[in-house]
Amino acid sequence: MQALEPTAEPRNAIAAVTHPNPYPYYARLVAEAPLAYDAQLGAWVAASAETVCALLNEPRLRVRPTAEPVPKALRGSAAGVIFRQLVRMNDGTAHSARRKVVEARTTAFNPPVDAAAARWAQRLLDGGGALDATRLDAFAVDLPVHALGTMLRLDEALLPQLSERVGALARAFAPGADEDDVDRGVRAAGALSAAFSHYENDPLGIENAIGLLFQARETTAGLLLNTLLALAHRRALHAAVMARRIAVREVVSEVVRYDPPVQNTRRFADEEVALGGHVLRAGDAVVLALAAANRDPAFNPEPERFDPARTNRRTLTFGDGAHACPGEIIAIAIATAGVRALLDRRLDLEALTRTVTYRPSLNLRIPSFTA
Ligand code: HEM
Repeated sequence: MQALEPTAEPRNAIAAVTHPNPYPYYARLVAEAPLAYDAQLGAWVAASAETVCALLNEPRLRVRPTAEPVPKALRGSAAGVIFRQLVRMNDGTAHSARRKVVEARTTAFNPPVDAAAARWAQRLLDGGGALDATRLDAFAVDLPVHALGTMLRLDEALLPQLSERVGALARAFAPGADEDDVDRGVRAAGALSAAFSHYENDPLGIENAIGLLFQARETTAGLLLNTLLALAHRRALHAAVMARRIAVREVVSEVVRYDPPVQNTRRFADEEVALGGHVLRAGDAVVLALAAANRDPAFNPEPERFDPARTNRRTLTFGDGAHACPGEIIAIAIATAGVRALLDRRLDLEALTRTVTYRPSLNLRIPSFTA
């Protein structure tokens, strides 16, 4: 494995998300501060698997602050209307009713999404010129939208434009969005709602149909690109995958644990919650460092070892409890199809390691190769 350059430890669990190598820092949090208040962030940070699991399953913690179900900047806009309805952003009965429909739909997409993803991977790579960094970044986000868009019966001709709009909406919804992000997201929301009008009388609804694309786009792109990096750093593994001695899906599944695209999620205490000798008070926020928990030695033995054949792999990358991701199998299928197609085209993996940076984000770890 190629040595990572020595860099200073990240300042906190949010800066860790886009740090070149946050994992020694996460290991220290797991060992020394499994749950601690970070005054700089103004939030609790949970890092050990035990605390992260407990908090994901704690009903007094909510996905949104009670006083602000929709971020202030989105209120009264087309983007705010979508946000308010999302399964991801609701708790209690508003969540469970939507959740049943979403789960039934994502289950039905699997396994047909395998074939759709393989077909779109070929088509997207066939169009356009050389496979340079710009095309690779675009391919990674466009593939999930095209594969899932086909499952959602969207007009094929609209898919390239929809991918951009879903990206704009995701940026407007992301923690830390600025005014420009919100403006672009609001414009995108109107156009997306029109493209999804065939969901108006469908139990999934326009908002949660759009929600599937928005939950899938950047996250799955990150999984695909982090898998390329995992292979780029390991020549023997890359050779074994090229010789089909190790399946791409197994490598992707280990990347889910080892270098996940979703590094953390947040919760907000609705009432006082006591855990591990600490008390979270009503109104407190907590960052659940999913990526740190995956590397907890009490959760996965020898967590620093990258092993696609790992038995009893455990991960919190897709969450746990009531809000656990219903798209896990779909995401792994799409990332696998994308990586397979790129390897078949002999993508120069080594070159990727020379220009890698991470897109600015407070929770997603998505490499970009456009230096
Ligand atoms: C590698 C890719 C993905 C990762 C790492 C990921 C991760 C997550 C996580 C951590 C959550 C829970 C957040 C929380 O509890 O705070 C979540 C929720 C969700 N994800 Fe994913 N996801 C991925 C891909 C997808 C895909 C492909 C879909 C759609 C097909 C999807 C749909 C959803 C939905 C609808 C929710 C909300 C569920 C709920 O609140 O009940 N995700 N995802």
